[in-house]
Amino acid sequence: MPEIESHDFDVVVIGAGGAGLRAAIEAKGRGLRTALVCKSLLGKAHTVMAEGGAAAALGNVYPEDNWQVHFRDTMRGGKLLNNWRMAELHAKEAPDRINELESWGALFDRTPDGRILQRDFGGHRYARLAHVGDRTGLEMIRTLQQRAVAMDIDVFMECKILRLLTDGSGQMSGAVGYWRATGEPVSFTARAIVLATGGIGRSWKYTTNSWESTGDGDAMAFWAGADLIDMEAVQFHPTGMVWPMSVRGLLVTEGVRGDGGVLRNSEGKRFMFDYIPEMFAAETADTEAEADRWYDDHANNRRPPELLPRDEVARSINAEVKAGRGSPHGGVFLDIATRRSAEYIHRRLPSMYHQFKELAGVDITTEAMEVGPTCHYMMGGVRVEADTAATTVAGLFAAGEVAAGLHGANRLGGNSLSDLIVFGRRAGMGASDYAEGRSGDPSVDPAEIDTVLAEAFAPLGREGADSPYDVQHDLQETMQSLVGIIRTESELVEAIDKIGELRERAGRVSVKGGRAYNPGWNLATDLPSMLTVSLAVAKGALDRRESRGGHTRDDYPKPDPALGKINLVQRLVDGEHTITPEELPTMPAELAVLLEEGH
Ligand code: FUM
Repeated sequence: MPEIESHDFDVVVIGAGGAGLRAAIEAKGRGLRTALVCKSLLGKAHTVMAEGGAAAALGNVYPEDNWQVHFRDTMRGGKLLNNWRMAELHAKEAPDRINELESWGALFDRTPDGRILQRDFGGHRYARLAHVGDRTGLEMIRTLQQRAVAMDIDVFMECKILRLLTDGSGQMSGAVGYWRATGEPVSFTARAIVLATGGIGRSWKYTTNSWESTGDGDAMAFWAGADLIDMEAVQFHPTGMVWPMSVRGLLVTEGVRGDGGVLRNSEGKRFMFDYIPEMFAAETADTEAEADRWYDDHANNRRPPELLPRDEVARSINAEVKAGRGSPHGGVFLDIATRRSAEYIHRRLPSMYHQFKELAGVDITTEAMEVGPTCHYMMGGVRVEADTAATTVAGLFAAGEVAAGLHGANRLGGNSLSDLIVFGRRAGMGASDYAEGRSGDPSVDPAEIDTVLAEAFAPLGREGADSPYDVQHDLQETMQSLVGIIRTESELVEAIDKIGELRERAGRVSVKGGRAYNPGWNLATDLPSMLTVSLAVAKGALDRRESRGGHTRDDYPKPDPALGKINLVQRLVDGEHTITPEELPTMPAELAVLLEEGH
């Protein structure tokens, strides 16, 4: 292969959502030669799909809120599968990171006395989400992007990374990919790499994720020898649009429920009262009258069941639809118009108003929305060390959705935006320290680069095989129907077989045209990651014989206390995809006590 374009940096950050931007800002701020590489346009990231807010115990609305309560809520929401140290750091550092964003120009909504306003979200004991109407992720990206540009960080947009490269010592040493517009290859050498590539939602048919979320980071880390944990933990957001079909899955922010929206079935019943789990019974209102009082006086009443954690709400909606009490298009009704004025809805939820008006012809200030679960977020992912965000491969760091641990088996809404800035910063610090301490210069093997590129280019001009779109379509059908919100052993076994067949088909796909501006070929290069992570999800789901958080097994409907202490670790060993249970580290007594009732 002729010589290809190559670049040399201290720190290369792959992915330019909230976590990637924050990591790059940190590394650049410490004086390191930093690159930010993203396969989409800068600013177009799944971060914007966290609309309702960023959770941080600022205590602006409820002075009694503090990091300890936030820690407890996060652990309980995650069904205790969380990495406790990550949950501790997150709860302690989120307020500083939000204030920092404000100092960098983020325009949060305000309390009457001028502080950052906070809204209610599921599973958070107090109104805790700093927000900008229902466009919080967008404002966060805007702020971080502006800062990154002002710092003159080198940005490589529309650059798809195919593979991470290690040197002879097993340390991370670079990456290889191509420019999406031209198809020309490009390589990077780096003293340290930060993965911030987001999630894997495009493996499902109905998802809030856009085309970028194909699990590239999880797969590349896995291929490079890193551990993945708890891949079965996939979040189905309770409220996506169900109609029109062309936008099925699009996010309907939890902010609607946080601001007073209620869920009803086709009989007009507020069905969530029938689904209050024991774990949350003490703090959840069990009658409509009591729930309604909470909207007037948060402090002295138990919370409405619509504000249970997402896993509980999504399963309940699923059950109502299955029982034949769904809305005409296979969801349930979400009604905010009954409780809130049009002025309130326009002010607090402007994007939701426009989304429903323009896409479905529904006026949410007078009518109920139809909503149902949609694949939204990956709790599992690359195993990281909490303080430094280091993965199990030397020189490789990960932050944001691609990294696992903070959210355990189920993420609370709003915890992702604060995750991005807390652990994006920590990954930037970890990678910078590593890059500075590394001896010798990193080197990449040209023969390895040639092999990766030859594999990527192979579908071009191949004759007579499947199109990548067919393989993607069949994968999405498989994951939606067999590895969805409720899982069973026989379906998971079937899914693993089907993914095996799809991998074979993906290895033979053919693409017409050349490398320049060729979305079909771009998809062909995404398929290996999509299939690797889908297999990991199905394998994890098969091996976790219990129901916990985002992972529900019809054949094992209860949590198993023994499995609650176990991470399922997946790694490549001599080319074999292995899965092993490993004990979670023991939580120190001073944190364990925070989980007890009354704290
Ligand atoms: O519903 C939402 O606004 C999503 C927020 C999140 O995923 O954190």
